[in-house]
Amino acid sequence: MRTIRSIAEMKSVTREARARGRTVGMVPTMGFLHEGHLSLVRESKRRSDITVVSIFVNPIQFGPKEDFRKYPRDTDRDAAMLEKEGVDLLFCPDAGEMYPQGYRTFVEVPDLQDKLCGRSRPWHFRGVGTVVLKLFEIVRPDYAFFGQKDAQQVLIIKRMAADLDLDVSIEVGPIIRESDGLALSSRNVYLDPQERQAALVLSRSLESARGVLIKGERRAKAVIRGMREIIAKEPLARGDYIVLVRPDTLEPVERVDGEILVALAVFIGRTRLIDNILFDPAGAAISSGPSKTRKGR
Ligand code: PAJ
Repeated sequence: MRTIRSIAEMKSVTREARARGRTVGMVPTMGFLHEGHLSLVRESKRRSDITVVSIFVNPIQFGPKEDFRKYPRDTDRDAAMLEKEGVDLLFCPDAGEMYPQGYRTFVEVPDLQDKLCGRSRPWHFRGVGTVVLKLFEIVRPDYAFFGQKDAQQVLIIKRMAADLDLDVSIEVGPIIRESDGLALSSRNVYLDPQERQAALVLSRSLESARGVLIKGERRAKAVIRGMREIIAKEPLARGDYIVLVRPDTLEPVERVDGEILVALAVFIGRTRLIDNILFDPAGAAISSGPSKTRKGR
């Protein structure tokens, strides 16, 4: 595996690969890798000739009071994991080169960026869209792999890619979970043992929502009430949002009459965690549900 830090070098390496007719897959990350990231890496390896993983803790997607400084970083450990997966190129750009003095250009995807996580983190998706567009320009991947864990992020990136006619296919991988249901996240390291236990309210409330939806409940309010009760019982948890929305527009639904996204964000102590499931009443098909674990994968 070759590690590249310079933007110019990264551009030229994938340009040459493309000229030789090789397809390029990319997995953008902020590092501190776990099985969720690795599942996307494996899919990229399966689908493309060359796999590029980027590790960049993107300063502009964090708010002034957020965890940019203390966000977990361990590039040596990450590099060893990626090497083992057979990744070809690791791109670790420098923040000063990504955002030099005088940097002014940002990607906005109004509406989609303002809902759900955008309500409590209004700067966030502008930072995500901007960095992902820059990474796409630098690497020019044929495929880019993202996790359904960040459902809103996926939607925004798909919208951006379509609106700007980007030559990249956005591929989405399922949520990878611990065996007890907790969705893997780099931020789980912030949780102390008590909080780690409390964090199960996210997957448990989604599991319960799925249960009542399968039994035939169609009123969004009733589903949300049930989820809120589960979260209220956990003293270390404080709900940020719980929504039932259309998966393509993130518009709230009153009645479940087609495929919906059930999504929530919960503070566990000072750590904000997110999770979601998709539910389709036609056949009650659910993807990425909490019952799907990484065990046995
Ligand atoms: P990061 O949180 O490091 O996540 C990188 C990718 O891994 C994202 O596409 C995310 O959805 C996916 N991922 C995280 N946890 C997952 C899980 N449990 N199962 C499956 N996939 C999972 O998301 C970002 O970084 C950044 O916003 C980024 C897109 C890199 C832009 O800075």
